[in-house]
Amino acid sequence: MNNIKAMITGIQGYVPEYRLTNKELEKLVETNDEWITSRTGIKERRILKGENQGTSVLGIEAVKGLLEKTGTDPLDIELIICATVTPDMPFPATANIIADKVGAKKSFSFDISAACSGFLYALQLGAQFIQSGTHKKVIVVGADKMSSIVDYKDRTTCILFGDGAGAVLLEPTTEEFGIRDAILKSDGSGEPYLHMKAGGSRRPATHESVEAREHFAYQEGSTVFKFAVTNMADVSAEVMERNGLSGDDVAWLVPHQANKRIIDATANRMGVGPEKVMMNIERYGNTTAATIPLCLWDYERQLKKGDNLILAAFGGGFTWGAIYVKWAYDPN
Ligand code: UT7
Repeated sequence: MNNIKAMITGIQGYVPEYRLTNKELEKLVETNDEWITSRTGIKERRILKGENQGTSVLGIEAVKGLLEKTGTDPLDIELIICATVTPDMPFPATANIIADKVGAKKSFSFDISAACSGFLYALQLGAQFIQSGTHKKVIVVGADKMSSIVDYKDRTTCILFGDGAGAVLLEPTTEEFGIRDAILKSDGSGEPYLHMKAGGSRRPATHESVEAREHFAYQEGSTVFKFAVTNMADVSAEVMERNGLSGDDVAWLVPHQANKRIIDATANRMGVGPEKVMMNIERYGNTTAATIPLCLWDYERQLKKGDNLILAAFGGGFTWGAIYVKWAYDPN
């Protein structure tokens, strides 16, 4: 057995320019800034505008930036995995489109669908390709254009989501850095509480499905909230415990940004103070697979080599998980 680990050697995010503020949402649905801020922590989200602009547009920008920043030749990339629930189209995979447009002509690429836990699933999967010794440069992208599946007539969901993408480069190391441990879970009995009814093989698009507004994300918020609080906290505590980490040993909690109250509850359970919790929900809302890499991107300058990070998420499926990462580089 080899002792190769996968470490993150670069991070880049991308958010589109347009800011959808709480004030603007007040004009679309019966809501107000006070309710949104106190119940979720969100102030604004970014929206990708324009015709024929899919999730790949977001992913391409993030990956291009990552290649540039890390001085990586696209032809050296061997694999690109894109986590998304808003692919450009059912097929081909959005990862294929990204790989082509960034010039990663020698890589293979595929999408995975695990909703808000998508980035964690993809990160662990990418890490396995490195750890097995077969691959040396893997890119993992979390990207979602949530505005394409949000019903701007439904106040319970439209206030939550935004568009964005984040990408990391994974490379091998034999030192004690990188992806150290992962616990990933799923439970398909969560389907009724968070899903998109139509547009798949069970209920292909029809006039009726469009009129019934079934091509939008549906969520029973308070039920999902309860599952999210319990499961995200449980799995984070479990990954800390089995790696002998206390709250003091953790430099940063990097939580999925669905609701500030879920994040606070998870941090509390882990014994991690608010000063060690990455949070950007107020600026981007819930960008699904992109929230965790967007947090890492925003906080990159504050990260130090050797920092212990716990990445944690909960989302549709249900899917959830936590990953322990030892950060591999100092800010330059
Ligand atoms: O990322 C994937 C996983 N998703 C999550 O983790 C999301 C989990 N859920 C949540 O974050 C929260 O449940 C929400 C933010 C979606 C909702 O917050 P809540 O505190 O659970 O509110 P609620 O659904 O229990 O609704 C409370 C009240 C209701 O009115 P009544 O029945 O008490 O009169 C809603 O109709 O708030 C009302 N309401 C609103 N009021 C103003 C719901 N949405 C809005 C709104 N503005 N946008």
